[in-house]
Amino acid sequence: MNVLKRCISVFSLLSLVFLIAQCKGNQKEEKQENTIQKTDNVYINKKEYGTTSAGQKVDVYTLKNQKGMVVNILTYGGIISSLKVPNKAGVSEEVVIGFNNLEQYTKANPYFGALIGRYGNRIAKGKFILDGKEYVLATNNGKNALHGGPEGFHRRIWTAEEAKGGDIATLKLKYVSKDMEEGYPGNLTVFVTYTLNNDNSLDVLYEANTDKKTVVNLTQHSYFNLSGDFSKSILNDKITIDADNLVPVDADLIPTGKLTDVTNTPFDFRKPRIIGADIAAKDDQLIKGKGYDHCWVLNNQDKGFRFVASAYNLASGRLLEVYSDQPGIQFYSGNFLDGTLPMRNGGTYAHRTGLCLETQHYPDSPNQKDFPTTELNPGENYKTKTTFKFSVKR
Ligand code: BGC
Repeated sequence: MNVLKRCISVFSLLSLVFLIAQCKGNQKEEKQENTIQKTDNVYINKKEYGTTSAGQKVDVYTLKNQKGMVVNILTYGGIISSLKVPNKAGVSEEVVIGFNNLEQYTKANPYFGALIGRYGNRIAKGKFILDGKEYVLATNNGKNALHGGPEGFHRRIWTAEEAKGGDIATLKLKYVSKDMEEGYPGNLTVFVTYTLNNDNSLDVLYEANTDKKTVVNLTQHSYFNLSGDFSKSILNDKITIDADNLVPVDADLIPTGKLTDVTNTPFDFRKPRIIGADIAAKDDQLIKGKGYDHCWVLNNQDKGFRFVASAYNLASGRLLEVYSDQPGIQFYSGNFLDGTLPMRNGGTYAHRTGLCLETQHYPDSPNQKDFPTTELNPGENYKTKTTFKFSVKR
């Protein structure tokens, strides 16, 4: 009898242990269910990424579809820290420059993957006049203001809201830039929504509103290397830019105010052309830019959202097409990458191992009355969209 009793109690104990273990397992699954939101074809998943030296928590959101595209976005600077897409053999590989930890992003960082604002590109001498009042900006590029100033939007913590539905996953980021932050007037509420869908395109929707007249020019600063191999330069890639004209610059990369025809110049990318073909030509603009670091005047501005540019890597077959409603695009050939910044898995990013295609208004527009306006008034809604679409071409 005693033996039987002991057997029963051992059995109950074992069942209890088993039950607890099962419960724990379920909890674990539930936890995952909370973080991995499964849509039909696209997922979004949030994880802690790190903490800044000021103690601010940073998350990383992973957006993933069923076509091999995976995008990581940080709430720090709205940075695209990783973007993987398939090559012609179907192998997904990294195609954007990035670091492997938060600390590195908070140190010297030439805007890798970041959201840029309040004014992308340069404002001459960090000054402009709005309604007769002069505004003096924080300068960070010699005497000029570049990409919104030293802190800009790229070093801020953005709040994030994720959403799912059908074949898309979205991450809506929000940042409120205070009146006179970096010298710009008006409290500006900014929303940037990244949307991944199942055809390997990433939409970037920028929205903003202000309580005082200001200037706004937002963009995205990812450095693409479509080869998937960051030891290779981008010089053999083919670029297309649908633009008949260029915004020429002075030695400080400030627009001269004129627009020039690209015909018979190294700036004619109306048909796909290899970046390296003319980059070393003795051309005044190339010398000033130390390569390509210019804004093109995009064609068909009246059409709104349209194809504006592409980059193609022959070896991998990866094609990136850029669509936008913006009047300009800055094509930057990574001329200031100099082998000092660390790659994710060892080594450093060498000269021209990444290229940027930054859709935007022309540089220094607040000081150039003939350029399309970048002013935003209270009651107006700043709204612009750019799409990065990836595919393969054999
Ligand atoms: C600018 C470059 C600058 C780079 C940041 C680009 O958008 O056009 O001149 O050096 O950003 O590193």
